[in-house]
Amino acid sequence: MASWRVTAANGAGLRCASSVSSAIMCRAYRGEVLRARDAVAGDAGWACVVKPGYGLLWALRRDLERTDAPPSPAPAEPPAPPAPPTPPTPAARAAPAAGAPPAPPLPLLDAPGDRLVRAFRAAEAEEWPAGAPRWPRVAGFGGAWVVHVISDLHTDMAENRDWLARHPSPRTADGAKHCVVVAGDVATKLDAVEATLRALTASYDAVFYVPGNHELWYVGVAGAHEPEAWAEASRFSPGNPPKRDSFCKLLAIVRLCRGLGVRTGPASLTDALHVCPLFSWYRGTFLDDACATASDGASVFTKVRRDVGCCPASPQELGFDAGCAWPAHVQAADARGSFGGGVADAMLRLNERRVAAAPENGAVVTCSHFLPRRELYVGWRGLGKCMGDPRLDAQLRKARCAVHCCGHAHTDFDATHGGVRYVQRALGYPHERYGAFRGPLALEFPP
Ligand SMILES: [Fe+2]
Ligand SMILES: [Fe+2]
Repeated sequence: MASWRVTAANGAGLRCASSVSSAIMCRAYRGEVLRARDAVAGDAGWACVVKPGYGLLWALRRDLERTDAPPSPAPAEPPAPPAPPTPPTPAARAAPAAGAPPAPPLPLLDAPGDRLVRAFRAAEAEEWPAGAPRWPRVAGFGGAWVVHVISDLHTDMAENRDWLARHPSPRTADGAKHCVVVAGDVATKLDAVEATLRALTASYDAVFYVPGNHELWYVGVAGAHEPEAWAEASRFSPGNPPKRDSFCKLLAIVRLCRGLGVRTGPASLTDALHVCPLFSWYRGTFLDDACATASDGASVFTKVRRDVGCCPASPQELGFDAGCAWPAHVQAADARGSFGGGVADAMLRLNERRVAAAPENGAVVTCSHFLPRRELYVGWRGLGKCMGDPRLDAQLRKARCAVHCCGHAHTDFDATHGGVRYVQRALGYPHERYGAFRGPLALEFPP
């Protein structure tokens, strides 16, 4: 059987196939090079391959070279980066299709970034009314609560769906109420996100959730639910909708959660216990900051300097989250990778209202998908630019955080830095698990 290898794509001009089975996704995550027979069924123009070592590449078939030899099991040096394809200019994107009547010029309501935030605020207000000075209360407010933490459910994968189906409710006869905090990467497909969150609402008395990067993959993989995401974003900007992108999908997810009773905003469980999801993205200086200021773990960061010189991005970082698409005012259309800081800044801005209204008393549990501190990342340095944002740490401390839970790294931890406890309990990918998953981490607080 012939196999295929990438000859040109290598992170530049990546595209996502329109449909991929979860079985193929699983195999790809395991680092296998997919054979031609397994390329995306029914889509002759696209093929699915995986870069040796880590990560997915989706490439046009013309960028693949057919070989009769089986792929080498040894990781290969990445081919020299090709010249990136010339992206369409904003003007070209806005150009009407041939034969279509020209669209009338749209009024600029306000700055693009403000419009984005206004759309988010409108969705947020349905859970936490605009002008309310303090965080709202959950249904069942008061009494004894246990907060459970989990991340990276990745229920696009059958093995993880099986785990969720077997996951028992923590409710017991003791009468305590149970809250679960889900720190992102539930799934990419919206129907999988919905089914997963719906299952959790049946098992827990309150569900808090912040989307991760996998939820915001939009190009191609979002095709099935693109219309609803587009309609959701357009609803907030009549006459001047944003282009279809990952932020549209974020708004659609927030709207989806409203219907399920899942909270994406802050709320109080009791007068002494509160939960606050925080939106985030990664920033390319995540480890660079560490290089400049490392006082602990210096040997690790010395190695970073020697291996990748701090600043140059690895091919894997450049191709990370290639399935996302962002508004032009957040990230330049021709940017490779989304670690330039624009996306991270936009996400942090969404948190400003909730952080400013944090309660003055009681314990606050915050959650984000990405890491707020470099010390928490112990994985491969070649993905360091795509792991976290140090500015997030300042926000969670402003919210008076006692415990912060996050995901994304798929490396569990429970550590205290500067008086804040940081935890991760990730289900992760099936091939990463050795032994039975311990289930969500339970946090207990004194009444
Ligand atoms: Fe994940
Ligand atoms: Fe992630």
